[in-house]
Amino acid sequence: MKFDEIRTPAYVIDEKKLRQNLEILKDVQERSGAKILLAQKAYSAYQTYPLVAQYLAGATASGLFEARLAHEELKTLDGRRCENHVFEPAFKDEDMTEICEICDHVVFNSLAQLEHHRSVWERYVSEGKLLVGLRINPEISAEDAHEIYDPCSPGSRLGIRNEDMPEALPKGVTGIHFHNLCEQGFEPLEATFQKVEREFSRFFPDPEAPAEGRIKWINLGGGHHITREDYDREGLIKLVQYIRERYDVEVYLEPGEAIALDAGYLVTTVMDVVETERIPVLILDASAACHMPDVLEMPYRPPLKDSEEPGEMNFTYRLSSCTCLAGDVIGDYSFETEKTVGDRLVFEDMAIYSFVKNNTFNGMALPDIDILHEDGEVEVLRRFTYDDFKSRL
Ligand SMILES: Cc1ncc(COP(=O)(O)O)c(C=O)c1O
Repeated sequence: MKFDEIRTPAYVIDEKKLRQNLEILKDVQERSGAKILLAQKAYSAYQTYPLVAQYLAGATASGLFEARLAHEELKTLDGRRCENHVFEPAFKDEDMTEICEICDHVVFNSLAQLEHHRSVWERYVSEGKLLVGLRINPEISAEDAHEIYDPCSPGSRLGIRNEDMPEALPKGVTGIHFHNLCEQGFEPLEATFQKVEREFSRFFPDPEAPAEGRIKWINLGGGHHITREDYDREGLIKLVQYIRERYDVEVYLEPGEAIALDAGYLVTTVMDVVETERIPVLILDASAACHMPDVLEMPYRPPLKDSEEPGEMNFTYRLSSCTCLAGDVIGDYSFETEKTVGDRLVFEDMAIYSFVKNNTFNGMALPDIDILHEDGEVEVLRRFTYDDFKSRL
């Protein structure tokens, strides 16, 4: 099937672009010595995990289900499993044994959680099957941070502040993790690391001090737009090399967006054109509320192929959807040509935080998940039906 023949609405993963991102990340890994993990919360089209596994060291999960997904699907072509990491603000008792069975790294969000689950994880650590870490709160926000995406905003529950950390790492803990960025360049990471290095110095290895209670690995979290054209990758490589050489520790990065940045579309069809006293509104078969929730949550105006800001081209429309929610509006856009029923629109950068977050509000059908292969053919990876809607209720 060709791109213009697909059934809409559909997310279409662009395999070529995905591979290009993975090649960039692999190069960063090889030149810096960092291990890069796919943060599955951003992108978990597991059908493409065999491709991801050719390039990255592993994946990180937000809990048991994502951890299981990576355990089952993230394998190289010769069947080797990739590294499996997990962080969750609080783990359920009933999940802990399975988490320890299938993960290589478990990161706890509090000293209380660490101790609560000690009787389970300690056995795996002593058998050399698991590494355990603590998430710290570096208490530094990026300048343009959106509060809802800022784990360092005042009162944050995410990570342990320096003043609440002990003098040495608790027994069994060998690493620290921080995550404070969202869609950032290199400079905010550098500033964060420098603050962590200064303020949490008692956990960094020191040739003069015993190694016990100090880190053997550090995870610099996600939010790094490493595959964006203007990202200072040389700066990142130098920083990772510095950390590895100065402290002799393993360095992990766990970006989500960077893996599938600009590597997908949401293709939709115009179903009606409604004239209003202000602006003509296109009713689409895709919805912001159901299919691109970040548009309303963040909020932001998603890029749309062959369109401009309102008023810049001949025909300006408000793009909306067929749910009942009055505010289910994607944004205002202008086009060279008039839009009519049956026309297709292609939203860009829709592989990340899209199908991992969608929902069936109003009984809206979930869009297909397709893949545009490198030879130009489109394959349907997933098609959803009424049963998918009903089975969740
Ligand atoms: C702990 C953690 N790691 C990694 C990520 C991935 O971030 P991004 O997709 O912005 O790179 C997130 C995102 O919220 C996160 O909370």
